[in-house]
Amino acid sequence: MKTRIIASGSYLPSKVVTNDDFAKIMDTSDEWISQRTGIKERRFEEDSNAHMASYAAIKALENIDYESIDCIIAATYTPDSYIPGLAAEVRKTLNIRRPIPTFDLNAACSGFIFALETANAYIKAKIYKRILVVGSDMNSKTLDFTDRSTSILFGDGAGAVVLEASDKGIIDTILGGEIDRDSSLSLKVSDMQTNPFTKDALNKVEYFEMNGSEVFKFAVRVVNKTIKDLLTRNKLSIDDIDYVVSHQANQRILNMAARSLKTSKDKFLTNLEYYGNTSSASVPILLDESLRKGIIKENAKIIVIAFGGGLSYGASLIEI
Ligand code: UT7
Repeated sequence: MKTRIIASGSYLPSKVVTNDDFAKIMDTSDEWISQRTGIKERRFEEDSNAHMASYAAIKALENIDYESIDCIIAATYTPDSYIPGLAAEVRKTLNIRRPIPTFDLNAACSGFIFALETANAYIKAKIYKRILVVGSDMNSKTLDFTDRSTSILFGDGAGAVVLEASDKGIIDTILGGEIDRDSSLSLKVSDMQTNPFTKDALNKVEYFEMNGSEVFKFAVRVVNKTIKDLLTRNKLSIDDIDYVVSHQANQRILNMAARSLKTSKDKFLTNLEYYGNTSSASVPILLDESLRKGIIKENAKIIVIAFGGGLSYGASLIEI
């Protein structure tokens, strides 16, 4: 028995912010951003993460009875509130009245793959029959718009999939992590509250911080190794894979991974030109668009893969 993706959906905010828009507020250019990253524009949400996540879920559930969902898992590191969590907000919008569990999962940009594998384990253990997994991040509210090396990379968006048991689907998964000794990726919790019994508040608003070149090297290394490991232990070669649906961080990472796997860069699907890096949403948005456009067809073998803060990484080999 396997776990199959039976439906998908995605949501992109309508507000488009181009590289030229960034060049108006900081020392950068469309030429630098395009050449170093492949990104031309990104979307910024003007409502909330819950709004994005809920609309991606509604799209995924367009032909599915909401009350048939047994569990909702939301991968995010940018919920609108700690309590309620994002998955609880999605359930509220969907108005699912059955007493189903909902919870959030944070593995930074790898979150969607970790949520997918969590759902896979629940379904294989026959704990839940049908699970909604959402990957949704509102990166714009964490960005430091004076930091030109980080703020230009990210966008907002949401993707969702519905999973249930089938004779085909997720074949194998690798999840992993390494110690982030140099804090290559961080978003600390802002400290604005004063506790009269302990310390004074630092009154510090925290922003997303990244050591881009360290993360770049980590990404190229783990994408290459994780795909090779997945292929080897399933006795497959890269030629057996129709497409790689990777986290969308930088076109150069995707090109280098393709080169090191000795395959065409066209095998690595991409949409980062339009959306930038949408963190937990990158993989499910690209997956949904590729399924809806008929690029990924029934019975295709694909690898979904993501990497990010923690440091974390994860990949699944899937038969569609
Ligand atoms: O989901 C999280 C995963 N994140 C990632 O995967 C990000 C991975 N890292 C990257 O994509 C790249 O490292 C960046 C795009 C962030 C940076 O590209 P890079 O080729 O590694 O550039 P760099 O950091 O080595 O900087 C080269 C130069 C520097 O100038 P100097 O010191 O050589 O004079 C930077 O100050 O480019 C400068 N620079 C910029 N110039 C114009 C950095 N950002 C910009 C910018 N516009 N936006």
